[in-house]
Amino acid sequence: MIKRYSYIFIITLAALGCATNKKTTTQATQTPSLKETFKDDFLTGTAMSARQIEGKDTAAVRLIKQQFNAVTPENSMKAEMIEPEWNTYNFDMADKLVAFAAKNNIKVNAHTLIWHSQLPAFMHHVQNADSVKQYVEHHINTVAGRYDGKVYSWDVVNEALNEDGTLRNSVFLEKLGPDYIVDAFRLAQQASPHSKLYYNDYNIEEPEKRAGAIAIIKKIQAAGVRIDGVGIQGHWRADNAPLAGIEESIKAFAALGIEVMFTELDLSVLRNPWDNNTADVSATAKADPGMNPYANSLPDSVAQIQSKSYTDLFKLFLKYKKNISRVTFWGVNDGQSWLNNWPVSGRTNYPLLFDRNFNPKPAFYSVIATASSNKAQTH
Ligand code: XIL
Repeated sequence: MIKRYSYIFIITLAALGCATNKKTTTQATQTPSLKETFKDDFLTGTAMSARQIEGKDTAAVRLIKQQFNAVTPENSMKAEMIEPEWNTYNFDMADKLVAFAAKNNIKVNAHTLIWHSQLPAFMHHVQNADSVKQYVEHHINTVAGRYDGKVYSWDVVNEALNEDGTLRNSVFLEKLGPDYIVDAFRLAQQASPHSKLYYNDYNIEEPEKRAGAIAIIKKIQAAGVRIDGVGIQGHWRADNAPLAGIEESIKAFAALGIEVMFTELDLSVLRNPWDNNTADVSATAKADPGMNPYANSLPDSVAQIQSKSYTDLFKLFLKYKKNISRVTFWGVNDGQSWLNNWPVSGRTNYPLLFDRNFNPKPAFYSVIATASSNKAQTH
């Protein structure tokens, strides 16, 4: 008798367990996912911080698996991290990222091989052209070679342009001359024949800088070297994303026969001290409480402006979905965005689709809604 009662008890417990499980599953699937919503249109990605790559930020990792099918390391594959000393490499984080992505069926866009910023300290002392040449060759052969085919793509060269479309002065331009970009792509192509190769920059939706990017791409192509795509970073203000320029750039880059991507999308709700549109990481200003108007919360009116801007952008992305291969956000949630500390440190910004508790914001639902209006139009 006792035995029979305990059986009933166990069965009841099991049934209750199933019911609760079912409830959690249904709740989890109630939030739509970006990667499902746009699966026939383009990849949807996020930047991943070191804590996320190491699995320490479990809530973020859960959200990444649920929402995204592409990731870009926010800092872990930059030169200062991956080659901290001359010809001495630290692949720890990059290996972890590649393993995480493979396990979860996520594509890695590796960022970045040649960039004037976040260079290892030793590069500031390298004076002669031969050493710079040697560094570039070593770095690209070793890093791009190790991850050939294991990463989906590389930002081979990042931010080589000034705002007027001329080449930015950097150790690479100064010591190697203007051909350094074509040479970097050639080296990357040899070291990494199975990963895609991209040029990445900010403000290349502006006419002069766009022309500079077109010149770079044409020069690579004319040299018979492979370039698969161009990344428009997309660090814009929520109240004035430059839609017309973006559309022009999508058309102009697509006409060169390459993929177009939005690689670091975030829509700041805060002014920068100069009221310009720079995304130069070296443009910094001191902390200033007067420049931090939403320290406690984001007013609804501003959230609505941001949602509208995200809507307009995604409508545009969908209009050109044949040419656009990926849209990546620069961070998982608002609290983790670099824009809380750049260009002014210690501010409270709200540039992404998920709030500080990983909950979807109105902007998230606006972005999801663009997909159904797109389907309604095409059917
Ligand atoms: C930023 C990171 O988000 C910060 O954590 C870091 O301190 C500086 O760099 N353009 C790029 C990115 O290509 O690599 C930059 O990322 C943002 C601007």
